[in-house]
Formats: sequence, structure tokens, C-alpha cells
Amino acid sequence: MTADGGAGAPGAGRYGEAVFRPDQGGEGERIDFGALAYDDITVARLRALGVGPGWRCLDVGAGTGTVSLRLLQECGVASVVAVDRDARFLTARRVPGLDVREADVTTEGFVTGRFRLVHARFVLMHLPEYRRVIAALAALVEPGGVLVLSDAVDLTGDRTPATPYTTAMAAMWQGLRNTIGTDVTWVPSYPQLLREAGLRSVAAEVHVPPLVPGSPLSRFWADTWERSRPAMLATGLVDAAAVDEAVRYLGSADCAALSAGMLTAWGWKPEEARP
Ligand SMILES: C[S@@+](CC[C@H](N)C(=O)[O-])C[C@H]1O[C@@H](n2cnc3c(N)ncnc32)[C@H](O)[C@@H]1O
Repeated sequence: MTADGGAGAPGAGRYGEAVFRPDQGGEGERIDFGALAYDDITVARLRALGVGPGWRCLDVGAGTGTVSLRLLQECGVASVVAVDRDARFLTARRVPGLDVREADVTTEGFVTGRFRLVHARFVLMHLPEYRRVIAALAALVEPGGVLVLSDAVDLTGDRTPATPYTTAMAAMWQGLRNTIGTDVTWVPSYPQLLREAGLRSVAAEVHVPPLVPGSPLSRFWADTWERSRPAMLATGLVDAAAVDEAVRYLGSADCAALSAGMLTAWGWKPEEARP
């Protein structure tokens, strides 16, 4: 098997099939809880990169479209093509300038055109073919434009004290790996991956929103564990009582933990050499 997955890779399934099915009640709300925790950070970074009036943007794996909408309504970009393999949440939130496409980003030619901003958040970590997708997304950036990719970094591990939360997170990452092929271990390699894709002035940052009981982020993890519960149990790392205990811990005053971080990496497409 190749480093970027392929035949025989763990997780023969796809996002939205065994886990995170969009037709299962509450999936849009789950994505929105995550968005509430991370959108301000994402939008601030995009603005700092100069995203604004006149920009043609592509938002890949756009989910419920919160970033696409804020690009249009707050940053004043000219247009956003929002792509998702299941576009039901996007079509429910149509606004002027938003062009919704239902497509699979792993398919060649999934979208045509060139964009000044190409953005994907919490998508590539679920794709075993992430290397190929990074190259495809880089090819969609127009000269002088920017590719901005965000994914999760796992901050639970041997160096953090074991709690019900860390146990559940370990089972979740393993369960998602076994079912979807989700892998966050490569995410810290983003700067090098963007450089290898031909982008310049590459940089990255990590943000870790506080895990406060009752916050959208806590709701997001509790919902995520609920939806991935069968995959978590199948790892053998947790039983049902351990998942219940982790949900209780997340909502309690005892909760003292670091959430997963969001690593955002960006790189610029060189201007084409003038003749
Ligand atoms: C965790 S959600 C993130 C949504 C949004 N980007 C955000 O950060 O709020 C992942 C999204 O990627 C979409 N997705 C997963 N695999 C995809 C693929 N191969 N092609 C297009 N979209 C995909 C899912 O349908 C889902 O909407």
C-alpha cells in the first residue's frame, strides 16, 4: 500500500456512509457545532491573507456552508463555489454569489475553473488519498492565489494524563481510521505537503479552542462520539460505559482537557512567468 492509502488501506468506507451519515437527524447541527468553535479563527486567517472583494473562491467539503456564507457576507468576496459530496445542507442555505455543486473531491475534474482562494477544512483528514487531493486543489488555484487547508491535530496521547476524555478520543480516532480511513497523524506535515505541491511562502498555525462544558465544542465532541459509537466500541478500546462516562465528563465541572487543535496551512501559487 502507498503512503497516501489506496487498495487495502484501513477504512474502506467513505465519510458519510457508515459514520456521519448526512441523512441521520442532527448531522447538520453537529457540523454547525464544530463551525461555531472554529469559524471565527478560519475567517480571521482568511482575512489576514487578504481574502476580500473581487475574490473567486472554492470551498471544498463545505458541509453546512458556514465558511462559504461568511466569505460572501462578511469578507465580501465575489463568489464562492461550495462543493460537497452531499450538498443537502448547502442547498438549504442558498445566498447570492453561492454556487453549490454536489461532487466528490477525489474524482478527477470534480470542478472546473481557477480560483483565487481554494479552501478545505476538516475534509482531507478523512481522505486516504489526501496527497493526490492536495495536488488537485493546488492545480485549481490561479496564479497569485492561495490554498488554505485546515485539519485536526490530536493533542491526546502518551504525554497527557489519562481521563475519560482522552480514552474516548483515542477510541474515536482509531474507530474513524478503521471505518472511514481518517488519519490525523500526517496533518503536521501540511507545510511540506503544500511546498511539494508547488506552492510558495508556505506557513501554518495551530489553534486550540477551550473545551468548556456546555460550549459548542463540547457539544460537537459529544455528538461526534454518539455518531461514531459503534466504530469506537469495535476498536475494543472502550465499552459503552466508557463512552457514557466520557460524555458525562465533558459536561461536568471535572472536565480539564485539551480539545483537538485545528492546524491551518497555506501556500501561494507563483505568478506565471511573463514571456
Ligand atoms: C467534518 S465536515 C466539515 C465541513 C466544513 N468544511 C466545516 O469545516 O464546517 C466534512 C465535510 O466534507 C464532506 N466530504 C467528505 N468527503 C468528501 C469528498 N470525497 N468529496 C467532497 N466532500 C466530502 C462531507 O460530506 C462533510 O460535509
